[in-house]
Parts: sequence; C-alpha cells; structure tokens
Amino acid sequence: MRVGIIGTGSYLPDSILSNFDLEKIVNTSNEWIVERTGISYRRKADDDVCSSDLGAEAAKIAIGRAGLSFEDIDLIISASSSPDKFFPSTACIIQSKIGAKNAAAFDLQAGCSGFIYGVTTAAQCIATGQFRNALVVGAEVLSKFTDWEDRNTCVLFGDGAGAAVLGQVESGGVLASILGADGGGADLLELPAGGTKEPASFETVKNHRHYIKMNGNEVFKFAVKILEDSVKKVVAKADLTLEDINYIIPHQANIRIIDAAVKRLKFPREQVIVNLDKYGNMSSASIPVALDEALNAGRIQKGDKIVMVGFGAGLTWGANLIEWSL
Ligand code: ACO
Repeated sequence: MRVGIIGTGSYLPDSILSNFDLEKIVNTSNEWIVERTGISYRRKADDDVCSSDLGAEAAKIAIGRAGLSFEDIDLIISASSSPDKFFPSTACIIQSKIGAKNAAAFDLQAGCSGFIYGVTTAAQCIATGQFRNALVVGAEVLSKFTDWEDRNTCVLFGDGAGAAVLGQVESGGVLASILGADGGGADLLELPAGGTKEPASFETVKNHRHYIKMNGNEVFKFAVKILEDSVKKVVAKADLTLEDINYIIPHQANIRIIDAAVKRLKFPREQVIVNLDKYGNMSSASIPVALDEALNAGRIQKGDKIVMVGFGAGLTWGANLIEWSL
C-alpha cells in the first residue's frame, strides 16, 4: 500500500514580533540576529491562546484540503514541544476542538523532529491497515516557554502551527523514512523544570527553570552534521541519489545551519525551502508550515521528490523522502 500526504494546512497568530521589538526587550540588535540566525520576524500568540488552538485551525485547513470530513480522521498525532498540558494530550484536545469523534489521539515528543517522527509513525499506522486517515499536527506556543530575559534564546523561537493528513495514495507517497536519537545530548536543549526530575516549586520559578535552555554552539555543530547525514541516509534508503531530489525542506532553526549543511551536500540552494526569516524556529511546526507554504506557492508539483529533514531536543533527528502524489 502507498501512503502519502493528501492535505496540508498552516495557521499563524497575527501578532508579529520584529527584531526591532526585541531590541527593546533584551540587549540585542537587528543586525546581530539577522547575521547569526537569518531571522527577522516571528509570530507571537496572544496570552489566552494555547498550542491546541493553533493546531486545531491548521488541522481544519489540512482536512478540508484532503477532501475529508472531520469524522473521516481515525488517528491524530500531536508532536508539540509546547503542549497545552502534561496531560491530557494536546492531540485529544485538538480532537475535541475539531470534532474528529472517530479518531484515536496521542502526543509524541521528539522536540523539533516531532513532525518527522509523526509522519513516519502515521505512515506506518496506515500501511499496516490499522488506520485510514491520520492527522499529524505540529503546533507551538513557544513564546510561553521562552525566557524573555535570555538573549541567547528569546530571539530564536516563534509561535505557529502546521498540519498534514496522511492517507492512501495511488502513486508516490512516503518512499523512505529514517529516525534517530541520542539521549546523551539530552541536556543540550531542554526545559528543565516542571517534571518529576525537578517538580515545580517557588525555587524553580525564581530560577527561570521552566524556560527553554540551550547550549547553542553544541546544538549548532550537531545540527549541521545530522542534517547532512539524514538527507544522505534517507535518499540512499530509497535507492535514489541527490540529483533525483527536487526540494529539501529542513527544520527552520538557523539559516547558517541550513546553508552549511546544504553546502556540504552540494545541493542547489534555490531548491531548499526556507521561511525562517518570517517565523523563526517554530519547533515541530516549522517543517509543516514550510511545506504548506511551498505547496500554496505552487513550488511543489505532482511527481516531485522532496526530503523533509528535522533535528532537535532529545537529541533527535529524522527525514522523510516523499514523492508528491497530488
Ligand atoms: N544578541 C546579541 N548578542 C548575543 C545574542 C543576541 N541575541 N545572543 C548571544 N549573543 C552574544 C553572546 O553572548 C556571545 O557574546 P560573548 O562573546 O561576549 O560571550 C556572542 O554573541 C557569541 O555567542 P555565540 O553563542 O557563540 O553565537 P553564535 O554565533 O553561536 O550564535 C546561536 C548563537 C544563534 C544560538 C547559534 O549557536 C545557533 O543557532 N545554535 C543552534 C540553535 C538551534 O538550532 N536551536 C534549535 C535547534 S533544535 C530545536 O529547534 C529545538
């Protein structure tokens, strides 16, 4: 059975936070942020908005584009790094918000690789015959986990959501996937407090332990290498070569990571989908939003082969090679 993406959607909060806005919050400059990251703007959700709100809107668009009704969805996977709550799962909350009453729903935690892990899992769930139409959602309100006093991290992240519906297709589809993890790098990128290791307390709040912490230099080195390796591995697994690939859609963390990896791969830069200048790093939402925008702009056509490749907290990484079916 061939399984592919049959609909995509994205949803971004209206409110835009520019580098110039950040200059008023921390000791930084537009010049530094653009030069070191490639980011100019990011979106910020209102205080009363949570990840499932954004995810449900992206999901509705994706399901509509797939030509399905909400009742046709029988599996929902949410891959958020900024879930509404520890439990219940954000996937269950999205299920209720969109009225997908026939769907099983669960969360999957793989940091910024979450969407790739989700697509890989959903494709397998359909290929076994257990499910027919699976929704994978990457929805993030990272602004609520961002330390707005830490210039090392607060300039990087943004809010937004992307979603994809997977189902049976007649041609193409997911040709190959690879996933990986190295928990030895768990402390390089983390949200330390609030779990059983460091339960919420007055001290954890006082010490900003409920915010994203990152060793930027180490993550940077890991990211460049794993992006290159993951693309090569997934292409080889599908018995293809890089010349067969029309587009690469990488996780949108930092333009320098993308440029360095693409240079090592000797892949044409104009065939790499990049939108991080507008949105920053939206973790699990980055890849599905970039995919949706590329589709809406008519860049991806039937028969095109695309590699979606992610890396993130865990450490985790993964890639899907998809031949576009629609
Ligand atoms: N504005 C101005 N100066 C800053 C800022 C800022 N926003 N942030 C850091 N600096 C300073 C530092 O304090 C340091 O100053 P010092 O030399 O006086 O100590 C200097 O700039 C250089 O700092 P570096 O950390 O070496 O800067 P670098 O060029 O490595 O860029 C960055 C930092 C952008 C974080 C980079 O390391 C990076 O992109 N890392 C990977 C980030 C990433 O991909 N994260 C997510 C991946 S996984 C996921 O998506 C969850």
